[in-house]
Amino acid sequence: MRKLLIAGNWKMNGSLTSVIQLADGVSKGAAVLPDVDIVVLPPLVYLSTVQAHLSNYVMLGAQNLYPGDQAAFTGEVSARMLKDVGCRYVLVGHSERRALMHDDFSKVSAKFIAAQAAGLTPILCVGETRAEREQGQTERVIAAQLEAVMAEAGVESLANAVIAYEPVWAIGTGLTATPAQAQAVHAYIRQIIVKNQVDLGAAIRILYGGSMKPDNAAALLAEPDIDGGLIGGASLEVDSFLAICAAARATATSDNC
Ligand code: PGA
Repeated sequence: MRKLLIAGNWKMNGSLTSVIQLADGVSKGAAVLPDVDIVVLPPLVYLSTVQAHLSNYVMLGAQNLYPGDQAAFTGEVSARMLKDVGCRYVLVGHSERRALMHDDFSKVSAKFIAAQAAGLTPILCVGETRAEREQGQTERVIAAQLEAVMAEAGVESLANAVIAYEPVWAIGTGLTATPAQAQAVHAYIRQIIVKNQVDLGAAIRILYGGSMKPDNAAALLAEPDIDGGLIGGASLEVDSFLAICAAARATATSDNC
């Protein structure tokens, strides 16, 4: 049984005041939502502040890291530093970083490896653009993104990782993959991993991300290969984020019956 995970990617949003309010609100609401792993991913500069406001029911994660340690990398933050301030998870390969910050396959793999070496769990994001989907390239693109990391880090590394399928055309656009579209890609991702290592494929959590909201979360989370969500816009309001966490809890409880 895979435990559902809901992660809030706050991206470059918020202020000192607003992240504290958000952390307090999520922590309070999460206390009545066992059965779901809840993670928040604030901007780097607010990590310690947010951590101080999180209860035991919410875990801390980061949106990025630099794959190096204790050296002259002006402006960068290492995995060890993230771990030091309480992070458990870190995003790797988010499509915004792939597209805007030139995180190519080798950088994504290096970040994935550095995260694990420091004891963090990487959330590896994969996803196709609209043009790639329209050209029937979805599976090819996803396989390449996944296999690039598996080749560098080794398939066993997936024992301590989470995957997030985020169709680029659905991120921040209000367009969501239908549950059937998402399920098809999630099943494909799982099958790639199963082909390499059956147990790992069965155990790994695959989150969906891309305009997941309170009104579509339950249907997406009901799909057999969708094990949670990576939430952008809807994670910036306490109520909408907790509503998605509650939908995950309802799915988890009904699965257990
Ligand atoms: P969105 O973002 O929920 O605003 O579409 C998801 C993400 O980019 O992680």
